[in-house]
Amino acid sequence: MFPIKAIHTQLLIMKKFFPVFFLLISVTTFCQTNVVIVPQPVSMKMGTGNFTFDKATRIVASKSDMHEATMLNVYLKKLYGFTLPVKSATAATNNEHSIIFKLTSSGKKDEYHLDVDANKITIRSPSNEGLFYGMQTLLQLLPPTKENIADGFPVPAVSIDDYPRFQYRGMHLDVGRHFFDVDFIKKYLDYMAYQKYNTFHWHLTEDQGWRIQIKRYPKLTSVGGYRNGTIIGHYPGTGNDSIHYGGFYTQEQIKEIVKYAKDRFITIIPEIEMPGHASAAIAAYPQLSCFPDQSTEISPRVPWAGSRVGKQVQQAWGVFPDVFCPSEYTFKFIENVLDEVMQLFPSKYIHIGGDECPKTYWKKSAFCQKLIKEKHLKDENGLQSYFIQRIEKYLNSKGRRIIGWDEILEGGLAPNATVMSWRGEQGGIDAAEQHHDVIMTPGKYVYFDHAQTKNSDSLTIGGYLPLDTVYNYHPVPKELNDSLAHYILGAQANVWTEYMANPQKVEYMIFPRMSALSEVLWSPKDSRNLDEFKEELPDMYKRYQLWGTNYFKSLP
Ligand code: ACM
Repeated sequence: MFPIKAIHTQLLIMKKFFPVFFLLISVTTFCQTNVVIVPQPVSMKMGTGNFTFDKATRIVASKSDMHEATMLNVYLKKLYGFTLPVKSATAATNNEHSIIFKLTSSGKKDEYHLDVDANKITIRSPSNEGLFYGMQTLLQLLPPTKENIADGFPVPAVSIDDYPRFQYRGMHLDVGRHFFDVDFIKKYLDYMAYQKYNTFHWHLTEDQGWRIQIKRYPKLTSVGGYRNGTIIGHYPGTGNDSIHYGGFYTQEQIKEIVKYAKDRFITIIPEIEMPGHASAAIAAYPQLSCFPDQSTEISPRVPWAGSRVGKQVQQAWGVFPDVFCPSEYTFKFIENVLDEVMQLFPSKYIHIGGDECPKTYWKKSAFCQKLIKEKHLKDENGLQSYFIQRIEKYLNSKGRRIIGWDEILEGGLAPNATVMSWRGEQGGIDAAEQHHDVIMTPGKYVYFDHAQTKNSDSLTIGGYLPLDTVYNYHPVPKELNDSLAHYILGAQANVWTEYMANPQKVEYMIFPRMSALSEVLWSPKDSRNLDEFKEELPDMYKRYQLWGTNYFKSLP
């Protein structure tokens, strides 16, 4: 271990960018370390000296916080290639040179306190997730590289008090347009955990692929899980790659991922999209369409691989008119699917989609028109509302709640629905005014499929969304007064993958914007500072390299 003595201490409150100078007595060299914690903690005060983290360091935990101690070792192994011995906390335990986890009896659920001094590191919280968040902060006090750590390294003395601003801190991933394997989903969950996100919205069904095994309906994955090709370039495509493409998660894999997320205090909200974006399900079970015998409409402008006859899994991107027919067959099918989904996902919420459902087929369907009359509905929007409300009633009867995209406001909101506002902020404002919970995901601020440069350096969709815009986003719209603001549970970035065919591209699109959003969701509004955040980016980049992730490198 090299001897280190802090010769310079700064006391800074509510400010996270500062140099810590160490005198390396043995080599009398000055080195400088920046302490960069993202998302920025509520309060951070530098102390005197540092803790020497080396092979003699021990973790001390009791039974009730052993999980967090174990997770610290999981991350030390993943990031640095070593683990530390864990000692059981007893009254007689010697805490010298230890990292101590301690559950406390009072305080806010998610808060934690991290104290580093020359003798020990202490993480305290009234909850296990708070201890986990404190542990994540500690990881960012460790070196951003695994080089030259064999003899130990200094951890600066610091005292941090911290808690989140929003209860819902989400990342979404579309695995329908492109499929991502279990290993990448686990990586994605770790990226989320590092920055204290707590909700993964897993978009599992799409026109271009159904990705979740449903045992009662095997064709959903054997047929709906694959397409015969994919368009090249933007719609309608300059060609088709004619590559048979697809994949799905088995129920065993899903259980493994749900457990992986739970270990990281991340809830997974599965999305089973309805009544639109249903082409893959309809290709598997054509009776789900109002026109089962009619071939999928494919524009002659779309270069297509294989047959254009019969119901097809889509090979191009967009919105398609052949949607779920609101028949008893469809409702029974959806209930059966949701029964299996609920067995796999313990989350309070199930996302039922609800966006981008063209009404053209419902308009020309005699069955739908009769149903509108019978149910005294106003029009096809009323029929969509009827559809969503029936599903809501079913899920509520099983103790679950629905989330839907903001189109579920049209034709009347289901009584207990939470609204995801994506076409802007108005859907969220309207829902909050109707006293419904809201998650903000407006395209202009948090659609990470949009380009990061004005002249996009790769194929993207949807326009330009620079880091600054994400960082400056405020999830509570100014239109909402204090009595309505609490309906905004938080926000989420959406990652639609039409133009993200592999994990490296996803990583490139999410970082560093995901780090910016983590501060929006976690840090106190008034302490956020874009210039400081940008100054920290080079340090974040080093952290990304340690995490093993790709990222957008052209900043600042
Ligand atoms: C969406 O972006 N269609 C929710």
